[in-house]
Amino acid sequence: MNLVHPSVNRYLGGLAPTDDPVLREMEALAAERDFPIIGPQVGRLLQVLTVATGARRVLELGSGFGYSATWFAKGVGPKGLVVLTEGSPERAREAESFLKRAGLLNRVRIEVGDALKIAARERGPFDLILNDIDKADYPKVAPLAARLLRRGGLLVSDNMLWHGEVMEKRPRAAAVRGILGLTGELYGSGEFFTALVPLRDGVTISVRS
Ligand SMILES: C[S@@+](CC[C@H](N)C(=O)[O-])C[C@H]1O[C@@H](n2cnc3c(N)ncnc32)[C@H](O)[C@@H]1O
Repeated sequence: MNLVHPSVNRYLGGLAPTDDPVLREMEALAAERDFPIIGPQVGRLLQVLTVATGARRVLELGSGFGYSATWFAKGVGPKGLVVLTEGSPERAREAESFLKRAGLLNRVRIEVGDALKIAARERGPFDLILNDIDKADYPKVAPLAARLLRRGGLLVSDNMLWHGEVMEKRPRAAAVRGILGLTGELYGSGEFFTALVPLRDGVTISVRS
């Protein structure tokens, strides 16, 4: 299901085509491989949130080949840090190479392995956490993020509408159930205050209380 009307999507795309050549190359690679990146509209949103909140320490859960991390690394500024986590060593190597070419390698730390285990070892506090791991594991992210974020910090979760499947009456797919589990935590617990932005595949922005 196309969540955003195609003509709205075209309009949004036309407002701000990606001008950074490294980001453009990553977008082309994602299209060629059919690899899910957050895309330019959500990338722009992430950078806006980073700059608006003055975030200096960002943690990414599920970094792929570094596309979302590149938007963050631009936003945190020269003294900032983005910690990338990626289960695929090959993609982590690609992320390193792209970030180097973008001139942003000195703003990142790249960790290879299970993002949940790596995050459990991190001490924090972080100003912003991006959640983009396997969707079945989404419910595990809420308690981790509550521990690692400073008060007023943001947890941003991608794919929270999952092509509209979250609206099914009896969802059976593990991904949908995971997304709905996290949605319940984000809206039901007192630890976060959440808004869902129906951009691309749905992005929640949750402020840590
Ligand atoms: C949707 S892609 C991430 C895209 C990236 N955030 C971007 O927009 O550029 C998800 C990535 O997370 C990785 N991943 C999924 N679950 C993970 C986990 N539990 N630990 C580490 N990496 C994980 C996958 O290998 C994949 O590369």
